Amino acid sequence: MAGTTAILGAGWLGAEVANACPRPVLATTRSGRRPPSLAEDVAVAPLDLLADALDLGPLARATTWVFAIAPGRDQDRRAVYVDGPARLLAALPGSDVRRVVWIGSTSALPDVDDTLDETHAAWPDEPRGRIQREAEGMVQAACEAARVPWMVLRMGGLYGPGRELGRLFGQGDRLGDGDRVTNLVHRDDAVAATLAAIASPRVGVVHVVDDDHCTRRAMIDAVRVAAGHPAAIWPAEAARPHGKRVDNRRLRDWLGVVLEHPHHGPLATPEGRA
Ligand SMILES: NC(=O)c1ccc[n+]([C@@H]2O[C@H](COP(=O)([O-])OP(=O)(O)OC[C@H]3O[C@@H](n4cnc5c(N)ncnc54)[C@H](OP(=O)(O)O)[C@@H]3O)[C@@H](O)[C@H]2O)c1
Repeated sequence: MAGTTAILGAGWLGAEVANACPRPVLATTRSGRRPPSLAEDVAVAPLDLLADALDLGPLARATTWVFAIAPGRDQDRRAVYVDGPARLLAALPGSDVRRVVWIGSTSALPDVDDTLDETHAAWPDEPRGRIQREAEGMVQAACEAARVPWMVLRMGGLYGPGRELGRLFGQGDRLGDGDRVTNLVHRDDAVAATLAAIASPRVGVVHVVDDDHCTRRAMIDAVRVAAGHPAAIWPAEAARPHGKRVDNRRLRDWLGVVLEHPHHGPLATPEGRA
């Protein structure tokens, strides 16, 4: 019988990963309460990485751990992304775990005007991204010490049902820098990448972003026009696109993922923007 896959953090992305995983699957929330979006045949267990005592319970018998945690607005980011997971990963040597998948973020990459693949060594300047990078290093070190194969998936900004692109970005005064290029990924493709990462024998970092790196201006205007609104009124004429373009070749070459929604800008289908 296949071992249990444990999805740590059954939130907006984690619950969909759990629903799509081959059974048996266990998913965690802090309280142990079942999220409404979770399939009936997914078991639920409580796990709070910041609790005084970590009760591993059924997690220790799972063969794969997938971290899909996010701190929300009320928790310390470093505690949730680095210190809490480090406490859990310290238990790897006595567990049945044979693979760890860490869902991270493209914010781990620096804000430079260039195309960046997974070999780019420089860290970002801003604190959120530095915490992501620190978390990646912690996962790698803990897994290597326990001889457990690992994979870090650096997700672009997630969009999809309930987090539609039109709701992700501001209007009017809050439009921001329209010439900055986008690095986004639809939740369906993020789920496909996570399933492929669970099954893959590869070890390392993989970027999970759309092929599309249109500017924010192009994307916001396309979303507005598709919704029957006029294009936004931008404070200045379009200038040269700038910002990091996150390369996604490994997603295809290492994990064999063919994006279902490769575009989110003017070339996207209406479903691609859901
Ligand atoms: N959203 C984006 O645009 C984006 C972009 C790049 C990367 N990511 C990454 O994608 C992953 C999933 O994001 P999401 O939007 O699905 O997050 P989400 O909906 O906010 O879900 C977060 C999950 O983490 C759990 N959690 C929070 N604090 C915890 C703690 N102290 N101990 C254990 N579990 C805890 C939550 O538990 P409860 O259900 O009990 O609250 C929830 O299940 C995260 O790793 C995030 O960094 C997201």
